[in-house]
Amino acid sequence: MRDRFYITTPIYYPDSDLHIGHAYTTVAADAIARWHRLHGIRTFFLTGTDEHGQKIERKACQMGETPHAFVSRMADRIKGLWSALGISYDDFIRTSEPRHRRAVQALFERVYRQGDIYLGRYLGWYCTPCETFWLERQLEQGLCPDCKRTVEFLEEEAYFLRLTKYADRWLEHIAAYPEFIQPVSRRNEMVSFVRAGLEDLCVSRTSFRWGVPVPFDLDHVIYVWFDALTNYLSALGYGSGDGEARACFETFWPADVHLVGKEIVRFHAVIWPIILMAADIPLPRQVYGHGWLVLKEGKISKSRANSVDPLVLVDRYGVDAIRYYLLREIPFGADGQYSEDSLVARADSDLANDLGNLLSRSTAMLERFCGGVVPHATDSDGQLAAAIERAVGQVSRAMQALQLADALGAILEVARRANKYIEEQAPWELARAAGGGRRLGSVLYDLAECQRILAVLLKPFLVRAPDVIWHQLGMARTTADATHHELAWGGLPPGLTIRRGEPLFPRIVSKGAGR
Ligand code: MSP
Repeated sequence: MRDRFYITTPIYYPDSDLHIGHAYTTVAADAIARWHRLHGIRTFFLTGTDEHGQKIERKACQMGETPHAFVSRMADRIKGLWSALGISYDDFIRTSEPRHRRAVQALFERVYRQGDIYLGRYLGWYCTPCETFWLERQLEQGLCPDCKRTVEFLEEEAYFLRLTKYADRWLEHIAAYPEFIQPVSRRNEMVSFVRAGLEDLCVSRTSFRWGVPVPFDLDHVIYVWFDALTNYLSALGYGSGDGEARACFETFWPADVHLVGKEIVRFHAVIWPIILMAADIPLPRQVYGHGWLVLKEGKISKSRANSVDPLVLVDRYGVDAIRYYLLREIPFGADGQYSEDSLVARADSDLANDLGNLLSRSTAMLERFCGGVVPHATDSDGQLAAAIERAVGQVSRAMQALQLADALGAILEVARRANKYIEEQAPWELARAAGGGRRLGSVLYDLAECQRILAVLLKPFLVRAPDVIWHQLGMARTTADATHHELAWGGLPPGLTIRRGEPLFPRIVSKGAGR
């Protein structure tokens, strides 16, 4: 593992409020970033907003606001959402910021100066919602092949990026670095796409103003995807004259993972690396294209936005239930069906029954049999220690492969094992048996210690529960500065006074809040 780690989410269009599908990408990136920090790795986690383009300009106009006022208001709402979801980003880049405009212009000019951007004339179709150029033959029944909406015909002078020139070099790169595009199914799609032949890409527009001007030809605005992709460099100080900012670029570039939804893999895995090749900048190590959350009725759309407003869901079920559901329910990479019922079912079975019950049963028994004090383990059978050790290995392997659902599965498996261990060991019988004291103390210590470590393992995924667990176990500190060293068995000091409290995760259905 490297000693530093740079992960990004796509930057979101602030044209409307975000829904649970957008939250999915960001929560996943957050868990991956937190996992790296837990391992003492210097981590930079970037998110932000993609504020330019015709779509935003039109929306601002409809709202009767200037584009700048509109995007500023919306960016604040997005930050509010990330705060409610416990997102630990290190920087939030907005493409309307001066530091970003500078970087975009510097990159555009660099590629132009060395001959891979040239002036021509664009004659073709444009999908404004996707901000994508299409050729006649790519349209499906005259509509955008991605979003199936109507496209507009454009005819304007424009700058073009020589994608064609780099096709072979791109294919060589993919062959040499098979992990560059993940999962494999997305890599195969991209390879077929490039083999089918690339066209030079139009990278400027003249028919609207809300964007970054081409520095040497101010009638042109830089194409919003060229602009947006550059955020991954601009947030690190690329194009800045400030030495400190540039040091950040030296430290963290190339990115370890660009996490993106499957419909924008093409921009990240084909166009972005070619821009970087043309600018002679090292390529990111990986573009990971995850699947979509879909509703039974189909794609999550604006008209269904209320049922999937993450703020409403956080308010109703708590931040950890939402984060847990998003990360556990859907194998990362595949599509998954979202429903509030399955969210409630997951939270009740895994969080309330498995994790929550384990804590309340263990603390109740510590109170009843040990006067509320963590005992010494002088006669442990090592079963829970072995279960934890196995899980630590499984979680680590799953996280390296970005299989977040598997990592959580392995963690919850320990909670289920520990609940079963209570039944098997029956501490209430040990308490009655003559000479059962040492085994009783050991069983209860092992249960408590197992949960101390489970809290550390859960730290990347859940933001509230790990501290509640530590608090109830009597730990003097929070998990805030816990590290992977605390995954080693035996760290719970005997003699701590436990603090029984409210259930970790009250059942939702019995509270009547479920649907
Ligand atoms: N602005 C561009 C990205 C530029 S990155 C240089 C964009 N923005 S977006 O707001 O439309 O989407 C951002 C991300 O949200 C994408 O990765 C997209 O896949 C993700 N999702 C939007 N709806 C989603 C689901 N229903 N499910 C999962 N992810 C979804 O594209």
